[in-house]
Amino acid sequence: MSMKKSMSSLHRARPFALGTLAAAAFSLSFGFVESTPAYAKVAPQPAVLTASAVAVADKFAADAAEQVLKEGGNAVDAAVAIAFTLAVTYPEAGNLGGGGFMTLYVDHRPYFLDYRERAPIAATKNMYLDDKGEVIKGMSLYGYRAVGVPGTVSGMWEAQKRFGKLKWKQVVAPAIKYAQDGFEVSDQLQERKDAASKDFAGKTNFDSYFGGLNKGVNFKQPELAATLQRISDKGAKGFYEGQTADLISTAMAGHGLITSQDLKEYKAVWRQPVLASWNGYRIITAPPPSSGGIGLVQLLKMKADLKDKYANVPLNSAQYIHLTAEIEKRVFADRAQYLGDPDFYKVPIAQLIDDDYILKRASEVNPDAPSDTKSVVPGLGTTMPEKAETTHFSVVDKWGNAVSNTYTINGYFGSGVVVDGAGVVLNDEMDDFSSKPGVANMFGVVGSDANAIEPRKRPLSSMTPTILTKDDQVAMVIGTPGGSRIFTSIFQVISNVYDFSMPLPEAVAAMRFHHQLLPPNTIFWEPYKPIEGDLAKQLEAKGYTLTKQGFNGDIQVIKIDDKTPEPAADPRGRGVTRVIQ
Ligand code: DON
Repeated sequence: MSMKKSMSSLHRARPFALGTLAAAAFSLSFGFVESTPAYAKVAPQPAVLTASAVAVADKFAADAAEQVLKEGGNAVDAAVAIAFTLAVTYPEAGNLGGGGFMTLYVDHRPYFLDYRERAPIAATKNMYLDDKGEVIKGMSLYGYRAVGVPGTVSGMWEAQKRFGKLKWKQVVAPAIKYAQDGFEVSDQLQERKDAASKDFAGKTNFDSYFGGLNKGVNFKQPELAATLQRISDKGAKGFYEGQTADLISTAMAGHGLITSQDLKEYKAVWRQPVLASWNGYRIITAPPPSSGGIGLVQLLKMKADLKDKYANVPLNSAQYIHLTAEIEKRVFADRAQYLGDPDFYKVPIAQLIDDDYILKRASEVNPDAPSDTKSVVPGLGTTMPEKAETTHFSVVDKWGNAVSNTYTINGYFGSGVVVDGAGVVLNDEMDDFSSKPGVANMFGVVGSDANAIEPRKRPLSSMTPTILTKDDQVAMVIGTPGGSRIFTSIFQVISNVYDFSMPLPEAVAAMRFHHQLLPPNTIFWEPYKPIEGDLAKQLEAKGYTLTKQGFNGDIQVIKIDDKTPEPAADPRGRGVTRVIQ
């Protein structure tokens, strides 16, 4: 079943280590939202790690990162080279025509770059509803009208301009080579292409571009190579203005809403990351318009609050899954109500990750039986106006800088539209808006006015690129695709590593499950490590329904013990790792 179809111990009183007294005061009085330091070019630094390392979705991107790091690039240069390369060699999710989030730790300081797509200027709240006010099936998923204004090229340009060491051309070069000379298509890529082709049949030009994408073939993309060359020559303007922009707006004319003005206006935004202290670590993660960082912090802290209830409960036993589902219920109730684009809607971030609030939510957990779904409502007491693919990569350089990047075109191959003449696959990110309050999107999650469609607004995301630091040094860089499964997957891996002391590869490979309030009392399980036999019976006896899903993430993580980075790629995908001296 493809996503497209179905889709310890804790000491949170202790504030995380901060550079200045002022910042500490800020963090204590405002929860965990701390100001991002002013613009700073990376200063020359001595090597602090034994090596650089990457965990990425395919071997071509790992090669690109290695090349750039060996040319003297830092983690940001490597990240940008990876992002452009995956747009060529991992076209089901890597992209120029989508958007994402980058969490960075540079020179011992946290940053967050939001290059999420925006709704076109001509978008309207009810654009996916019919005359009767019902959601028109598939309209936000397939074809031109599903597309949000792409952010990836602006994001890469901003990140590299601010923190990169190499010339822009050097980081775009590997991608141009793969587009021009071709790359060998893997079995998994063809399988995903075949599945997507069925979804897009008769709706888009997908087959005419990707018809030849078959395993073992050397697949070349000359139009994409030319687009990348324009980006290499002109920077972000090579995408948002001139020939590439013309090709996109011409393709849209009469079909979709994106115009040359939409493209020209688009700009990635630097935001304050969500910061929290947990278990002696500082968590640096994604703020709105992602729901993921807030969700991850709520999950980790609520589990910590319940340490007595979790004590001696074996990992992934029926009771463990039950307690975790109880936490997840509360996190998803808040997600549906309070989260949206912070430029349009005041998201109560500090309140949602406040220790006392989370403790109160934890006290509502019923250790014996599933809480009645209807009784689990958003917890702040006020009602305030929320297919598969995405890919994540993690990078650290030997100077101790880190990049955690998740970007997406939403479903596999996005909207299925490939821009004629430009070879750019366009996203279907508009599906992440709430087309109608209470009606679920591709991932089965619902939303409210906070995530209603408005011109220039960014749809709510679950992407959660995360960095953990300890004593101002990077300890872990982690993320995954998976839509609403993203932050529950990251939560499980972090918990496996730090609460259960599992070796990293085992922590990543371990069974993952998911619950998200709706459908009621439903635990999603994955074919990679099924919930079956006695465990299934025990959960059913507790009142849960078990539902198979095709996919529960593709974690790319680097853990640093002392000074040595250990990367791990999820065995569920075709990811690879590299340690680069
Ligand atoms: O932003 C989001 O949350 C989704 N558009 C991400 C999609 C995704 O992870 C699909 N991958 N399996």
